[in-house]
Amino acid sequence: MAVGTVLVTGGTGYIGSHTSLALLENGYDVVIVDSLYNSSVVAIDRIELLCGKRPAFHQVDITDEAGLDAVFKEHPAIDSVIHFAALKAVGESGEIPLEYYRVNVGGTIALLSSMTKHNVTNIVFSSSATVYGDATRFPNMIPIPEHCPIGPTNSYGRTKSTNELIITDHVEAQRNNLRKAGKPFEQWNGALLRYFNPCGAHPSGIMGEDPHGVPYNLLPLLGKVATGEREKILVFGDDYDSKDGTAIRDYIHVMDLARGHLAALNHLRSTHPGVQAINLGSGRGSTVFDIINAFSKAAGRELAYEVVPRRQGDVLDLTANPALANEVLGWKTELTLEQACEDLWRWVQNNPKGYRQEPPAELLDAVKAKAKAA
Ligand SMILES: NC(=O)c1ccc[n+]([C@@H]2O[C@H](COP(=O)([O-])OP(=O)(O)OC[C@H]3O[C@@H](n4cnc5c(N)ncnc54)[C@H](O)[C@@H]3O)[C@@H](O)[C@H]2O)c1
Repeated sequence: MAVGTVLVTGGTGYIGSHTSLALLENGYDVVIVDSLYNSSVVAIDRIELLCGKRPAFHQVDITDEAGLDAVFKEHPAIDSVIHFAALKAVGESGEIPLEYYRVNVGGTIALLSSMTKHNVTNIVFSSSATVYGDATRFPNMIPIPEHCPIGPTNSYGRTKSTNELIITDHVEAQRNNLRKAGKPFEQWNGALLRYFNPCGAHPSGIMGEDPHGVPYNLLPLLGKVATGEREKILVFGDDYDSKDGTAIRDYIHVMDLARGHLAALNHLRSTHPGVQAINLGSGRGSTVFDIINAFSKAAGRELAYEVVPRRQGDVLDLTANPALANEVLGWKTELTLEQACEDLWRWVQNNPKGYRQEPPAELLDAVKAKAKAA
């Protein structure tokens, strides 16, 4: 029998697909809802290939409350939600903020409302280190602890911090209302997971990030330079106060991040903590040049770059203090930036068109043989 049944919104996306796999591998049943706005349904086949179990899938928009109601109705065993579905392009969020609020905030309200109707009471939410904004504006806040004041510098980040408030208010209100009515209330819980910079891919080489359109994160862009699809990478500013002048980020392998969701879900279901914000990062900062060097090494050649002026809203340093996750989730990162680069390169090399083409037959056969042996 399954440990539990989890609704994963945005589960065909990059982090959602790796997390769905981790859940299935750890005894959970998984129901995915995704509009496929930025992902492919082929991710479901890859999850099944890797673990032998297929998540249920419903193509539903996160803002469609009636659609969500129908999914909860069809799967009454769902007791928890991991909520990834969102728009996530920082630059675009400045151009069409209303759309970002409609999908990210409106979608979260529809989800919470539908969860409440169907008595689904645990939510793990994809937040982001972006909610901190420029933590260097305060003394002693690098690496960034959870008590660092919130101050996002872009609309995307503000949808995330707004969602954190909405989830906190709703879960606390549910607990208070039930407590006042003399009913059990501890079943209502939320984890606000503030991810630092997710990167890498599944080590098999058959699952990874496949965004529609142009990627805007450094590592997927470097992948495109390595395959020759792009000529060079743009480095936004080399006049920051860092060892080489480029901005510092905390890169976390997507496999570690997926395990972090599993740990957070288990924590909510077993200790009933109410709402907690928790950083998921490695605690190690790497500059843009560190990343270019690491990926160049994985790809076996120097990758071209050009330094251009800083981007508005970018900050010097986003490095996590992951002590709380270590303490309450018993979780820490295990994989290195070098492993993330090697895994990303394996994914990119074998799937230059992402999920729009089959990986090489030998690779698929090897994955199938490994899954059968396991
Ligand atoms: N990747 C990062 O660098 C990063 C960092 C911090 C936080 N996050 C957050 O993590 C979550 C997952 O990010 P990701 O990198 O896997 O992105 P992704 O785009 O691969 O995944 C998001 C998924 O949500 C789906 N989606 C978008 N709009 C939807 C809608 N209206 N209804 C239903 N589904 C919809 C997309 O199709 C996609 O499958 C997002 O909430 C993102 O904001 C990502």
